Amino acid sequence: CGGVGGVLLRLCLFLAPVTKTVSPMSSTGSRRFRSTSSMQGFSELARERSKTVTSFYNQSTIDVSAEKVRSPDFIPASVRLTLATLLYSGKSPDGHHILSSAKYLHKELPVRIAHRIKGFRSLPFIIGCNPTILQVHELYIRAYQVLSDFPLIKDQDEDRRFCKLVHQLLDDHKDVVTMLAQGFRECRRHIQDESIIRNFLDTTLCSRLGIRMLATHHLALHEDNPDFVGIICRRLSPKKIIEKWVDFSRRLSEHQYGNAPRVRINGHVAARFPFIPLPLDYILPELLKNAMRATMESHLDTPYNVPDVVVTIANNDTDFVIRISDRGGGIPHKIIDKVMDYHFSTAEESAQDPRMSNFFNNITNSGNQSSPMHGFGFGLPTSRAYAEYLGGSLSIQSMQGIGTDVYLRLRHIDGKGESFRV
Ligand SMILES: Nc1ncnc2c1ncn2[C@@H]1O[C@H](COP(=O)(O)OP(=O)(O)OP(=O)(O)O)[C@@H](O)[C@H]1O
Ligand SMILES: [Mg+2]
Repeated sequence: CGGVGGVLLRLCLFLAPVTKTVSPMSSTGSRRFRSTSSMQGFSELARERSKTVTSFYNQSTIDVSAEKVRSPDFIPASVRLTLATLLYSGKSPDGHHILSSAKYLHKELPVRIAHRIKGFRSLPFIIGCNPTILQVHELYIRAYQVLSDFPLIKDQDEDRRFCKLVHQLLDDHKDVVTMLAQGFRECRRHIQDESIIRNFLDTTLCSRLGIRMLATHHLALHEDNPDFVGIICRRLSPKKIIEKWVDFSRRLSEHQYGNAPRVRINGHVAARFPFIPLPLDYILPELLKNAMRATMESHLDTPYNVPDVVVTIANNDTDFVIRISDRGGGIPHKIIDKVMDYHFSTAEESAQDPRMSNFFNNITNSGNQSSPMHGFGFGLPTSRAYAEYLGGSLSIQSMQGIGTDVYLRLRHIDGKGESFRV
């Protein structure tokens, strides 16, 4: 990182926020930094970070394995499968289908990860140097290395070893969304162009969802569950999965506000069709938490008498729609265009309401601005990105003064329209 890079690096080290600066390679550095406010402490940390960043960008082993990543021409296009293909690819008694799945994954995962590494390398330098973002970048490079070093899978023994590796990688990457949310929050103020952040996060988070769906699908193929083909539930009941997340969100709401709105589910409550629970497991709690938070915070003076949240299911040949309606006062005109932006959240304003202080101070030890009910301002933008990735949509209708309707529309796997690709 000499020359311009060196200047940028120094600039970045000085602009990096003082809070939440955890060096990816060394926790002792950050401890030292917190314990002293002297310039000496600062320059020690700066030196350490400098080493981290420089070695990160210059490591020859990384450069060798990421050679393909350097030039876009070398990275093959990823092969996105329709879920109908996954669903109907059949089960062979000798386990042949599992071996084919392993071979596909073994070839496909490094390609997808290589595209992501390219994305990290194309980030503005000042973002790429953020310690938390670097840590995620490094996780991707390590994953790329171990996956591309893994030998061709020819038998069940090798598949078993491959599954172990995939399992480990899923676990290593489980906190990536939170880390990205935190890393970008620390450094986004240095970037004028919002679309850089939006494009990077949309692409990275959706690609991550796709990778996790494929990886979990392969692992699940080894399990013997008659209701499932891999991660695809043959007869998913939207009502059941909504109920599961209603229980979860109500518990959080009760914990935070002392009460939670009741939720009524109506419409096609008996509908059942093949679908993957995984994206719903992310999107539904986010939407329900938002609806419950709005309901509770617009009735802080009467927390034991709050209006119900109503969830309506509509099913048809092409897609299914889940509408979540709350009477939480709606989204004010002045913020309606921002709620889909990454990191936009009114959590801080809520915390300033004196009626909220009891709730917040009791349950969080991370300051007033985040809680399980709201936090990074990631719920809506991430849910919309996931819905669109799966060929659907997420839209909001706010009736300012009354409440909000959120429509989640998702395409059927085997419906009339073309099935989406993962
Ligand atoms: N149903 C709703 N009624 C009123 N306002 C809402 C509703 N849903 C979202 N909002 C507003 O949109 C903002 C962004 O929502 P989003 O879910 O993206 O982030 P968050 O809830 O603040 O944090 P996170 O979801 O990351 O924990 C919220 O802070 C809130 O102000
Ligand atoms: Mg939210």
